[in-house]
Amino acid sequence: MSMAELFDDGWTPATWRARPAAQQPEWPDDDALETALANLRAMPPLVFAGEARTLTEQLALAQQGKAFVLVAGDCAESFHAFSADAIRDKLRVILQMSVVLMYGSGVPTVKVGRIAGQFSKPRSSQTETRDGVTLPSFRGDTVNDFAFDELARRPDPARLVQAYHQSAATLNLVRAFAKGGFADLSRVHAWNQEFVASSTEGRRYEAVAAEIERALRFMRACGIDLEAELQLHEVDVWTAHEALLLGYEEALTRRDSITGDWYDCSAHLLWIGERTRDRDGAHVEFLAGVRNPLGVKLGPTTTPEEVIALCERLNPAREPGRLVLFSRMGADAIDATLPPLLQAVQNAGHPVLWACDPMHGNTFQHESGYKTRRFDDIMRELQSFFAVCKAADVWPGGVHIELTGEDVTECLGGADAVLGADLERQYETMCDPRLNARQSLDLAFEVAELLRR
Ligand code: PEP
Ligand code: CO
Repeated sequence: MSMAELFDDGWTPATWRARPAAQQPEWPDDDALETALANLRAMPPLVFAGEARTLTEQLALAQQGKAFVLVAGDCAESFHAFSADAIRDKLRVILQMSVVLMYGSGVPTVKVGRIAGQFSKPRSSQTETRDGVTLPSFRGDTVNDFAFDELARRPDPARLVQAYHQSAATLNLVRAFAKGGFADLSRVHAWNQEFVASSTEGRRYEAVAAEIERALRFMRACGIDLEAELQLHEVDVWTAHEALLLGYEEALTRRDSITGDWYDCSAHLLWIGERTRDRDGAHVEFLAGVRNPLGVKLGPTTTPEEVIALCERLNPAREPGRLVLFSRMGADAIDATLPPLLQAVQNAGHPVLWACDPMHGNTFQHESGYKTRRFDDIMRELQSFFAVCKAADVWPGGVHIELTGEDVTECLGGADAVLGADLERQYETMCDPRLNARQSLDLAFEVAELLRR
């Protein structure tokens, strides 16, 4: 009997429609929306059910302390800033971080990109006002355009289809990079881009890369056939995004022919954001019925009772690897807000993977007007996360980071510090500020140190 039949509670990919759905755009044209969704329903799946199951197994291992999860990528992918080079550079930094984390911790890194589908953004405000003009907020490239004019900000359902196609093209490249030689461990030096290599973090990375090469030479000298070891030559990079636009997610949800279970084939892992985790809301209803591994963001107002309700609803079978809880409290709040949640989940005996998103609780507006984050606050939240987990005897199972492979100046600080006056130099994000490649590497070294302890 499949899980679908075992838990047959009348769920279908459309039952969310009877619930209040937060953060959905007001599409101006129902016919155009239906045309776009019909188009998506006819498209091939982007990922396969079997892949989602493999990721679930890897997350289950991470839950036992046998792996560490790195979720990383843009806050919002963009239709305009779309290029093979940008995808390659993002993968490079993820591979570099993953090597640093593995080398430091001795456990595998499960690599999950906020990529190939991370286009939709929840907004705190419906509208944005500039110089006395008020327009609908930008909700991500799946919905409207970033440009501040009336036509650009009008939701356009054709964008849903464009998001699908860009996701497919991105995923194709990600798979090629992951399996086609780029991610081969013998290229560990080549991942270090020039603007990174010349920095403090880059030199530190070079030292690790040299050690790894030495270890590979040693193994070869021992008579191990390195060519035959697939793990040295290719990697898995899984995809994830916030499952925000439920029409889009529903249209890409398919029944697996092997198990009969439903999978949301838009990505391997889907997460529920801080603004849409209402246990009785449409997002929780939708994701409860698909068998992909799931994430939920938990902000500082989350109560223990809410977390338990979410665990019960999203993982009634208590399946290991099914649920990742992302603590995103803010550096000043986490010491007080996270321990009661950890405790409650432990008492209830729910198997979850605890991970930390140290980005979204630490955003503020700089005096220059730019939205930014301090590297020090991000690290402070991570340090607290590790300490709180340790005190509760829970494995700190992963981090969730907004980053880019480019040399941007969006977050303050890091070993080669970005200063307030630098923000305007290379501020390119369409949504939240991202760590640049150097800051990302810096963070990986610090997290590896925390893991080692
Ligand atoms: C995000 O991950 O970009 C995001 C909006 O996060 P949160 O839901 O935690 O605010
Ligand atoms: Co963000």
